[in-house]
Amino acid sequence: MSTTRGAAVTVRVPAKVNVQLAVGGARPDGFHDLANVFLAVSLHDEVTVSPADSLRVTCEGPDADQVPLDATNLAARAAHLLAARRGISPDVHVHIAKDIPVAGGMAGGSADGAGALLACDALWSTGASHAELLDICAELGSDVPFSLVGGAALGTGRGEQLTPLELGAPFHWVFALADGGLSTPTVFREFDRLTPQAGPPEASRALVEALRTGDAGALAGALVNDLQPAALSLRPSLADTLAAGTAAGALAGIVSGSGPTTAFLAKDADEADRIAAALRRSGTCRAARAAHSGVAGATVVRAPGGAAG
Ligand code: C5P
Repeated sequence: MSTTRGAAVTVRVPAKVNVQLAVGGARPDGFHDLANVFLAVSLHDEVTVSPADSLRVTCEGPDADQVPLDATNLAARAAHLLAARRGISPDVHVHIAKDIPVAGGMAGGSADGAGALLACDALWSTGASHAELLDICAELGSDVPFSLVGGAALGTGRGEQLTPLELGAPFHWVFALADGGLSTPTVFREFDRLTPQAGPPEASRALVEALRTGDAGALAGALVNDLQPAALSLRPSLADTLAAGTAAGALAGIVSGSGPTTAFLAKDADEADRIAAALRRSGTCRAARAAHSGVAGATVVRAPGGAAG
């Protein structure tokens, strides 16, 4: 294992939207069993790691001031975990170019964890297998394994046990960004309060079939997020954003994960651009971004010698 001074590795990693988030009751370990259908979408962070005297994290982007740069950052934790497994010191500068909304329910922090892990693995030539990387991702957080694999997948357990799903034609989305974030644990606690008798979560066959055939109308009818009532209870103004997106012609609107980002399914790319413009005009959100699904997970895009892949 060796590192070259001046070497840097950059990994591009996507955001996710949950097209089904079925939530069971709280488990003894405090987590909830899920049937969580993830879809990777074309909003990306780029994570660059380079050798340094000690581990440090920096971040640039519109919401960079909201990103913690200490040891709690999942990118820092990823570097620590991988280095500890190899008995080396995690002496890297991790730089995050952030485009995924922060604390928005789109797995931005998880994306940075998966990105830093893959980048450190390449920088340090650890030879970790895909299975070991997935294992470290699961240790980092419930959504992190999906950030590594991308595409579409069903997450069971606390969301970390992945089964890849087949995807037909890409789906077109609009994401409405809200002011401020929502804390995932707080949203799950509100879910527990609102849903004391949650049943076992099950994946929807209709939804899995809609993904496979690329049928946007069928997907619109099958979108479901059990955390949505909790997110709306904590942030009632999201109901106005959902109403504005559907009034603008979206096939369906849903809170993304634990929110507060809302996701709107559009018929095609032109329609997504039109809905995004209408949402911006509506005054019910901070920004609106069009994106498509069917994108890859964490991918090395720059490495010493120009290698990528
Ligand atoms: O796994 P992760 O660290 O991303 O989870 C953040 C928090 O979200 C957990 O501490 C827990 O409060 C909540 N959570 C949960 N059930 C899950 C996933 C997350 O209750 N399946």
